[in-house]
Amino acid sequence: MLRKGRLAPQANPQDLHAVANRPYRHPAQLGCLACHAGHGLQPVRHEPNQGPKPSTKKIGQYEHELCGHCHRNNLVYQTPASFHPVLASSIGERAPSLGEAFGERSWINCSDCHGSADAEIPPGIHGSRVPAILKADYQTQDGFEETEQTYAHCYGCHRRDSILADESFPLHRLHIVEAKASCFTCHDSHASRTLPHLLAIEDDSRSGRIQPDQFSRKTYWDNGDRAGVCYLTCHNVEHDGWAYGPEGAKRSLRKGTPQSMPGARKAPAVQRPPK
Ligand code: HEC
Ligand code: HEC
Ligand code: HEC
Ligand code: HEC
Ligand code: HEC
Repeated sequence: MLRKGRLAPQANPQDLHAVANRPYRHPAQLGCLACHAGHGLQPVRHEPNQGPKPSTKKIGQYEHELCGHCHRNNLVYQTPASFHPVLASSIGERAPSLGEAFGERSWINCSDCHGSADAEIPPGIHGSRVPAILKADYQTQDGFEETEQTYAHCYGCHRRDSILADESFPLHRLHIVEAKASCFTCHDSHASRTLPHLLAIEDDSRSGRIQPDQFSRKTYWDNGDRAGVCYLTCHNVEHDGWAYGPEGAKRSLRKGTPQSMPGARKAPAVQRPPK
């Protein structure tokens, strides 16, 4: 711990040396002032239900603005079709898996997901034992057995029992538990430019696990409430118009084209509400 000798009695110095042992961290060369105000490190006073977290550096700014200053390549947030509510509050239906502990809060912050994964380091987006400076474990590769820990990051907010009970996507359990697919394979953690439900199926810049079907289609069609159609090849299985939803029994997947699917449509782009 740091020595308190010359500090004011109310000072609460915290030792960040342990950060240097964490494999995933912000480079030390950035310096503390890259993210903190010069006159001491003011602890952020923030009431989660009253708004997004303020910046640790600049009064009148939000945390995501501070991060966005350097992480501009997070362009995925600019005109998304669906998104984790960071730059804008969530709209539409409440995700059934969101835990009650989440209350009525309709936005989250970068630091709800990014930060240190253990109590030894002061809170903050400094360093973590988990890749991408995440606060909890998140297996992004396929082929791992589903446990509470494998996807602890997501399960921190989305109830594991709800996901595995197929309360939203009727084929969650089949993919996650039986086929051992990671959430990462289907979902983007930040936003999806083109698809609802943070689906990353059309995004070519990701893992490459999802390939086109025999007609070169690599897409998803929203087919109304808890219903959709997939055109893609994954784990060597072609999904050439495989559908799920109330009209199709859970596992009897129908074949078809978007045109032949009654009511099939591409999700409209989401209008973002003003801040
Ligand atoms: C990349 C941005 C970034 C850098 C660089 C950074 N911090 Fe932080 N730090 C944060 C954020 C964001 C928080 C608040 C996290 C939260 O609210 O959960 C924080 C929180 C803290 C806290 C905890 C305050 C509290 O409320 O308990 C301390 C202490 C701290 N930082 C010290 C440092 C020191 C010392 C350095 C330089 C060695 C540093 N930080 C560098 C982003 C940064
Ligand atoms: C002053 C510029 C700066 C600010 C402000 C900043 N970062 Fe960073 N961040 C960096 C740099 C530089 C890296 C290291 C990039 C690399 O290694 O490729 C990094 C790395 C990261 C990584 C790990 C990236 C990876 O590929 O594993 C995450 C996550 C991250 N930052 C999130 C944040 C968040 C959240 C905030 C807001 C609290 C923030 N950063 C603020 C400059 C910044
Ligand atoms: C810090 C909390 C938090 C974490 C961690 C988190 N989410 Fe979310 N997620 C939310 C919130 C809040 C919403 C918005 C729900 C709403 O609008 O009611 C959301 C929405 C979603 C949606 C969109 C719901 C829809 O049908 O449009 C998906 C998909 C999703 N999350 C998947 C994930 C996955 C996968 C992970 C892990 C990689 C994850 N989330 C981690 C809080 C979180
Ligand atoms: C709901 C949780 C969640 C929130 C909120 C979130 N992230 Fe992330 N972020 C992740 C996860 C999980 C990964 C690693 C896996 C991936 O890339 O999907 C990641 C990866 C990253 C990376 C490294 C890879 C890349 O995409 O460049 C950066 C940088 C980053 N996040 C910055 C941010 C910033 C800045 C914010 C706030 C504007 C933010 N994140 C908000 C979960 C989140
Ligand atoms: C095979 C692809 C696939 C995988 C793997 C997958 N999901 Fe999903 N997920 C979907 C689809 C498709 C939807 C949209 C369902 C609908 O039509 O509403 C969805 C919806 C969601 C939602 C929004 C509704 C809700 O349940 O609250 C959350 C949250 C979610 N998934 C979390 C996860 C998590 C966490 C994992 C990993 C443990 C995961 N998903 C793995 C395809 C997938």
